Amino acid sequence: MSPELRKILSEARSVVVLTGAGVSAESGIATFRDPDGLWQQFKPQELANIDAFLANPSLVQRWYAERRRVVEEAEPNPAHRALALLDTVVETTIITQNVDGLHHQSGSRNVIELHGNIRRSYCVDCGGKSDNPQLDAQGIAHCRRCSGLIRPDVVWFGEMLPVEAIRMAYEATRTADVFLSIGTGAEVSPAADLPIIAGRHGAYTVEMNIRRSAISDFVDEIVSGPAGTTVPDLVSVVLDSRQTST
Ligand code: APR
Repeated sequence: MSPELRKILSEARSVVVLTGAGVSAESGIATFRDPDGLWQQFKPQELANIDAFLANPSLVQRWYAERRRVVEEAEPNPAHRALALLDTVVETTIITQNVDGLHHQSGSRNVIELHGNIRRSYCVDCGGKSDNPQLDAQGIAHCRRCSGLIRPDVVWFGEMLPVEAIRMAYEATRTADVFLSIGTGAEVSPAADLPIIAGRHGAYTVEMNIRRSAISDFVDEIVSGPAGTTVPDLVSVVLDSRQTST
């Protein structure tokens, strides 16, 4: 970490963090595009879109049920916990592409879920939340109110992101002093645009990843290494600088 980043972190009033699947990798949750990622084993166009779901609800519901089981068994890792700690000394906004809920679980207060949350489900017909669906003879989950199909509360390819989440994400991005992009390949917009927008509005932009990504050429600084190590290291710099200055 450069002396410049240390200084900026010690004075920052607002830190905005964009996270991707890489921040949860050390919690045992597969990423999407790494060699062992989900999209290497499954075709997103066959699972993560509404047409695939309506064509084969049983397959898609079973796939998400398995991903949800993995998520519910996972624990926040040191990267999640360090970001929750950062939030106690400087205004921290987490904009996450992840649907695993681990930022909330680790205690971060200001979390914007751009792509939804796999732990929630809802009915495609009445929109009602569904925690205890009715299963039909084929094991397909239906709404107890209107018998509509139950789907995970995640944003599928081709779908709009939650409008309020996007609004809050852009607002935070435009006013960030430091913008950390952690564990994302930055291949999916609008999330991938945020680090660039932050830089244009004067933020010091940092990428934290184990390899280069689509934004590596556009950030002010790259901190290489696994998030479970680099994020706690960065947060400890902030904590030390705030403790010595008080
Ligand atoms: N520490 C830091 N970075 C890591 C680690 C780690 N331990 N492990 C993997 N990474 C990095 C990879 O190098 C890669 O750049 O995390 C990134 C994961 O990239 P993707 O698998 O593309 O995941 P993500 O960027 O979150 O995907 C964005 O695409 O498919 C959609 O909706 C899905 O939210 C997802 C979006």
